[in-house]
Amino acid sequence: MAHIRLDKFLADSGAGTRSQVREIIKKGRVMVNDTVAKKGDIKVDTSVDIVLMDGKSMSHEDYEYFMLNKPQGVVSATTDSEHKTVIELIKDAKRRDLFPVGRLDKDTEGFLLITNDGPLANSLLAPGKHVDKVYEARVTGVVTPDDVISFEKGIDIGDDKLTAPAKLEIIKGIELEDGEIGSLARVTITEGRYHQIKRMFHAIGREVVYLKRLSMGPLCLDENLSVGEYRRLSEEEVTLLKEVHKNG
Ligand code: URA
Repeated sequence: MAHIRLDKFLADSGAGTRSQVREIIKKGRVMVNDTVAKKGDIKVDTSVDIVLMDGKSMSHEDYEYFMLNKPQGVVSATTDSEHKTVIELIKDAKRRDLFPVGRLDKDTEGFLLITNDGPLANSLLAPGKHVDKVYEARVTGVVTPDDVISFEKGIDIGDDKLTAPAKLEIIKGIELEDGEIGSLARVTITEGRYHQIKRMFHAIGREVVYLKRLSMGPLCLDENLSVGEYRRLSEEEVTLLKEVHKNG
């Protein structure tokens, strides 16, 4: 249950900006529980009050949660003067305050959580939480069992500290687009340093040529989502995320 101002309720519900909805209210187009609302600053209870605009029921979502299969070429930001952002891909959002939880590089694909739930996002990104992030990587050259040990021990990627222990699984040898030998690997990290996976492979003499995030914490990328597609999280998935938030 939350008590918020009517103008915020309507703006959150996608009816317009705060000043636009204040105009709408002034014109008598909004009713709260059978009474025409006169001002935007009256308080409404989002869980019980019925708000109608032009006779249409307006629903209020405090928080929205989306899983996006991020395509390449799109930036993990809310605004960008040059490139399309991940937020622009979410077409039916009610809220205007969505943001991506953490960043994937412009050329990285895969699982990205998009929400306006700040406390939950902070919790998922907090270094102390050690939320697992699993990536599939295509890299140049042959990844060896020694590399697996190096990832486990922690790697010097030029920061003050070695990377935290990471799990490197060699899936198979592959031929890269240029005909050279490469490897398909899966990597699990618990940190979120800048270009972390690319820098870890670079440090052992390999280069990442393709990177896709498969999961974050308890949630896996829905395989029915094509690149660029998204869906709302189910209630169960939101509950799983909140467990991470609660524990620790
Ligand atoms: N590590 C990277 O190098 N890039 C990403 O996008 C995510 C993790």
